[in-house]
Amino acid sequence: MGKVVSAELVTSALALGQMPAGALPEIAIIGRSNVGKSSLINSLLQRRALARISAQPGKTRLMNFYLINEEFHLVDVPGYGYAKFSQTERAATRQRLQDYLLKRGQLRLVLQLVDIRHAPSTDDCIFHTLVRNTGIPVKVVATKADKVVRSRLAQHLSVIGETLRLAPEELLITSSQGKSGIDLLWAHILRTIRLHE
Ligand code: GTP
Ligand code: MG
Repeated sequence: MGKVVSAELVTSALALGQMPAGALPEIAIIGRSNVGKSSLINSLLQRRALARISAQPGKTRLMNFYLINEEFHLVDVPGYGYAKFSQTERAATRQRLQDYLLKRGQLRLVLQLVDIRHAPSTDDCIFHTLVRNTGIPVKVVATKADKVVRSRLAQHLSVIGETLRLAPEELLITSSQGKSGIDLLWAHILRTIRLHE
């Protein structure tokens, strides 16, 4: 696994105008609240608590930009579809995510996280289609693989793959708890970044 030499939180932003300027390539991690976005970032960066994790969903309210190896940004995006937010707040969160996905020129890859135990939600499908239509490469990452017994893995993955109409190589499996799949995902991130250098 390529080394994480440095990783630091450089900006927390709500809207496009507050995001880091410059042309560094960017990788976004999106998904519903509580799916494991912040945990995955900590696992990828081998940091215990760089990104804030909580048993309470909706913890990450701002987009957090992490500068990695002075080379690219990894972005922890607030979860969409969190039921406890007000309608207005949910609509605003979705609108901001949509603006970001459509207008952020340096976006090179979107990692869309889905919980391996559940079929993708309507919101997952909507945002998956939206990203696909932008032409930005997208990988779906099934999280919390440790929560499913080995013999049921294939069944869960096929539900996700069929719902989002994925080709096999578009679906990755991780566990931040068991650290599985993290190296492969990190290798993919580095390949994506280097492709654009
Ligand atoms: P928001 O910031 O609210 O959008 O959530 P998030 O997507 O960042 O999720 P977060 O990383 O905070 O994780 C939510 C909960 O799931 C926490 O209790 C984590 O400990 C747990 N969790 C995350 N990844 C895994 C995993 O791979 N396995 C298991 N068993 N639990 C996990
Ligand atoms: Mg989070």
